[in-house]
Amino acid sequence: SRVIRLAVIPGDGIGPEVIAEAEKVLDAATASSDVEIEKIRFSLGAARYLETGDTLSDDGLTAIAGTDAILLGAVGGVPGDPRLKDANIERGLLLKLRFALDHYVNLRPAKLYAGVPGPLADPGEIDFVVVREGTEGPYVGNGGSIRTGTVHEVANETSVNTAYGVERVVRYAFALAERRRNRLTLVHKTNVLVNAGGMWKRIVDAVALEHPAVAVDYAHVDAATIHLVTNPGRFDVIVTDNLFGDILTDLAGAVTGGIGLAASGNINPDGTFPSMFEPVHGSAPDIAGTQQADPTAAILSVALLLDHLGLGAESARVTRAAESDIAKRGTTPRTTAEVGDAIARALQA
Ligand code: NAD
Ligand code: IPM
Ligand code: MN
Repeated sequence: SRVIRLAVIPGDGIGPEVIAEAEKVLDAATASSDVEIEKIRFSLGAARYLETGDTLSDDGLTAIAGTDAILLGAVGGVPGDPRLKDANIERGLLLKLRFALDHYVNLRPAKLYAGVPGPLADPGEIDFVVVREGTEGPYVGNGGSIRTGTVHEVANETSVNTAYGVERVVRYAFALAERRRNRLTLVHKTNVLVNAGGMWKRIVDAVALEHPAVAVDYAHVDAATIHLVTNPGRFDVIVTDNLFGDILTDLAGAVTGGIGLAASGNINPDGTFPSMFEPVHGSAPDIAGTQQADPTAAILSVALLLDHLGLGAESARVTRAAESDIAKRGTTPRTTAEVGDAIARALQA
C-alpha cells in the first residue's frame, strides 16, 4: 500500500476543533483504499508560543518539509493580544511555511452550494476559483519603519513582484481555466500600481497568446469587489496578487454563504515541497471552545488535499458527502462534531 506522510498542524482556537472533524473524514475516505496515512502532529501556534517562545524552529520546518502534505487548522490568537504583539505567529509560522515551501499558488475555490442561504438576494450560480499568488507581493516583509513611534515616523511595506514569480502563477491559472470554463480575469490595480500592475498585465497578455481558447479580461480590485457582489457568476478563474487575493477570498467566502465553507490549498505545483491545505478562516477566538465552528471548510480542504495527492476518487467522495450534508442543513444548529460525524458516516455507507 502507498504510505502518505501527513503533517497535521491543528493550531489555535477553533483550529483543533475543525481539524478533529477533518481527520475523521480523511480517515473514513481512505479506510477502504490502498493508501495508508501516517500522521505526524506538530504543536505550533500562538498557544505554543506563549508557553515556549517558539514560532517555528529550523528543525520543525525541516521535519514538515520532509512530509508529503500538510493539513493545517488555523493559527493565531485574539487580534490585538498584547502578549503576542512581537510574536508574529502569522509571519513567523504561517507565512514562513508558505514561503519556505514555495507555495506559490494559493488556490481558493468559491462556490455557492445548493441549499446555502447566502447573503445575496439573487446570486445566480457562483463557481469560481481565486488563484492567489502566495510567495510575493506586499507579504514578503520588504520594508521597515524609521523614527518609529514618533510624529516623524516613516513606515514602508514594499510589494515585491518578480517576472519569474508572476509568470509561474499566471501559467497555473491559465491551465486551470482550460480545465474549467475557459475564462480568466486578472485582478490588480494597474491604474495606480503602474509598475507591479503593468508587469502583471504584460505577463497575462503574453501567456494568453499560448491559450487562445481562454477568454481573458481584467478588473481593478475595487471594481472586482462590486462584481463579486452584484454579478459573481461572471467569474471563472481569478488570478491576482497576494494581498488582493487575501481580501477577495474573504469576500468570496461571505458571498457564498459563510467563511465556514471556504477551503484552500497552498500549492507547490512542482512537487519540490509538500503542499498545505487549510480553511480560509482563522482561529476564531470569539467562538473557540464552544463547538459552534463549522468544520466544512476544513473538510473541503481535505478534498483539495486528496486531489493534490492524486486520489481523485477519494477527493470526489469527500466533496460529494460534504455537498449533500450542506444541502440538507436546516436551521437547527449542530455542533462541530455533529457535522463532522455526519459527513464521515456518509462516507462509510
Ligand atoms: P477569523 O476568520 O478567525 O474570524 C472571523 C469571523 O468569522 C469570526 O466572527 C469567527 O467567529 C467567524 N468564523 C471563522 N471561522 C468560522 C467557522 N469555521 N465557523 C463559523 N464561524 C467562523 O478572523 P480573525 O478574527 O481576523 O482572526 C483570528 C485569528 O486568526 C488572528 O490571530 C488571525 O491572524 C488568525 N488567522 C489565521 C489564519 C490561518 O491560520 N490561516 C487565517 C486568518 C486569520
Ligand atoms: C489567510 C490569512 C493569512 C493571510 C494571515 C493570517 C497571514 O488571512 O490565510 O487568508 O493573510 O494570508
Ligand atoms: Mn485572509
